[in-house]
Amino acid sequence: MQKLSKIAVLTSGGDAPGMNPCIRAVVRTAIYNGLQVTGVRQGYQGLIDNNMYEMNNRSVSNILNLGGTILKTARCLPFRTDEGMEIAYNNLRARGIDGLVVIGGDGTFTGALRFSKKYPDIAVMGVPGTIDNDLYGSTYTLGFDTATNTVIEAIDKIRDTADAHDRLFFIEVMGRDSGAIALRAGISCGAEAILLPEKETAIEELIVSLKAGQYNKKSSSIVIVAEGDKHGGVYDIAKAVEKEVKNYDIKVTILGHLQRGGSPSSFDRILGSRLGYAAVNALIAGKTQQMVGLQANNIVSTDLEEALNQHEFKLEDDLMQMMEILSI
Ligand code: F6P
Repeated sequence: MQKLSKIAVLTSGGDAPGMNPCIRAVVRTAIYNGLQVTGVRQGYQGLIDNNMYEMNNRSVSNILNLGGTILKTARCLPFRTDEGMEIAYNNLRARGIDGLVVIGGDGTFTGALRFSKKYPDIAVMGVPGTIDNDLYGSTYTLGFDTATNTVIEAIDKIRDTADAHDRLFFIEVMGRDSGAIALRAGISCGAEAILLPEKETAIEELIVSLKAGQYNKKSSSIVIVAEGDKHGGVYDIAKAVEKEVKNYDIKVTILGHLQRGGSPSSFDRILGSRLGYAAVNALIAGKTQQMVGLQANNIVSTDLEEALNQHEFKLEDDLMQMMEILSI
């Protein structure tokens, strides 16, 4: 095993609160261990464009509280091609880089694994960073906690006005194919219904439960719709319900990208620090093609191949069961 001398770090895909604390931990852990660190701007695009800079301990001062990512991020199509990967490889080798930490979601990891199989002399370690919480191998991903709290704050505000006007609100939240944000935010805000990609709810069933709520003297109702829900979007659902549920003024809110921003929560700052620290130590220990993650409050490594193949992040059974019972 050749001794590692210089690593690069990048963030890729959708930004997530907690990425900055993770970058900080990567840089400082690496320097503490005598490694040089290069920051790559705009994810894989920066590898191709040779858009990189040398980092030191001061490059990551005062960033723990910042949302987004100081390295910037991108969704990079050219990195999916052999030509793009070759340019990236040559740029890394020319800088003497022999280890790479990638912070992102499954698209990021897919790119990292392909790259690492093609060019195994550059060790690769993944850190799960996405608000969607949809990666196998880590109970929580960076940014999920902050995003969920942001959603909760927004829905609490909507509840105030919903209640004041006796209205029914349909609120769409992010998560791509995952209902993790929707489920937790829904339970935390007492949503009357939560529509998830993981569990199909027939519109007729939703209508029955909203009518039951009216009958039980509920003044306002909130239905959370995960963006990956299979019914074709929050407006279509609201329209279908409007035809059947009378005496309710119906409104639709799509929370959108505000869910991705904001200062990371305590949980995400600690998680980012732990994962960044662990990723560098794993590279130093000679590991590659893995991701570090949190399981039962321990940091563990999972092969990227396994993480990507499993690609099933199960929502908690008890939360799924209680979501209907607690909002009656
Ligand atoms: O993966 C994070 C995420 O915010 C998803 O929840 C959402 O589907 C997607 O990214 C939005 O991507 P973009 O910012 O490129 O529109």
